[in-house]
Amino acid sequence: MTGSSLATSTDAEARRRVWTEAGRGWGARPKEWAYQFEPYALPANHLLFDRLGVGERTRLLDVACGSGLAANVAARRGASVSGLDASDALIDIARARTPGGDFGVGDMFALPFGDGCFDVVTSFNGIWNGCDDALREARRVLTDDGQFGMTFWGAFDRMGLLPYFMKIIELSPESHQSATMVVGETGDVVDGMLRLTQFEVQERGTVEVTNEWPDVDTAVRSLASAGPAVPAIEAVGYDAFCEALRDIITPLHDPVTGVRISSDLGWVTARPT
Ligand SMILES: C[S@@+](CC[C@H](N)C(=O)[O-])C[C@H]1O[C@@H](n2cnc3c(N)ncnc32)[C@H](O)[C@@H]1O
Repeated sequence: MTGSSLATSTDAEARRRVWTEAGRGWGARPKEWAYQFEPYALPANHLLFDRLGVGERTRLLDVACGSGLAANVAARRGASVSGLDASDALIDIARARTPGGDFGVGDMFALPFGDGCFDVVTSFNGIWNGCDDALREARRVLTDDGQFGMTFWGAFDRMGLLPYFMKIIELSPESHQSATMVVGETGDVVDGMLRLTQFEVQERGTVEVTNEWPDVDTAVRSLASAGPAVPAIEAVGYDAFCEALRDIITPLHDPVTGVRISSDLGWVTARPT
């Protein structure tokens, strides 16, 4: 093996480690994520699909599709849907939800699709600050007159889940803390990321989303299923992590209506330049 091919294969292995590790985290508690967390984003799914005109015969790819709820919403509008995610456990649920869809496990930085084969590409809280190469891949698989849309966390002062994320950062090893913080900055940099990757921004806005749980235990188990929670759980143990979350969630519990936590998601739509 030559020096350069050795470097290339080492880079490829390192990249593979990163996305398989992300998939391992997000897939650690797949049913809790799919059925007790992912539905919070439904208002954002509908809003973005409305803006992008997703309907009969739209060829749609959802990048970092998780357990495929957004793809299912698109399929119910008549779109022909594909989805890709790093977690095989979440992809199993996506396939069960939408048997007619085309779902695969893989890396959003190297999409396993040919050039120009989708009318619409979306990503719901899947492409973050620093993920410019994922946008380049989204652009590559879009037709020249296709459309792109994505969501990300909105302003911190409109983020009911902020104390939860702060607790995750507090309990995570230092090596994982900045990764969680960088995610929150996506709204500040997304226009520049899109311009750099040959997109022109069309529209931007915010949409309120709400996590709803009947009781504190369900809320805590659900919150423990998100990928960023995993390094904290591995650091302090599942029971201690849940105990720490319980302290945050208990004051939010209403005996009549349960636990309701609202946050803003930012959204943006763009066209290839
Ligand atoms: C916040 S979740 C969003 C999931 C889904 N889009 C939703 O709205 O619920 C982020 C997702 O990105 C996936 N992910 C992280 N890195 C990835 C990568 N390099 N390639 C593909 N998927 C990735 C994770 O497995 C996870 O399902």
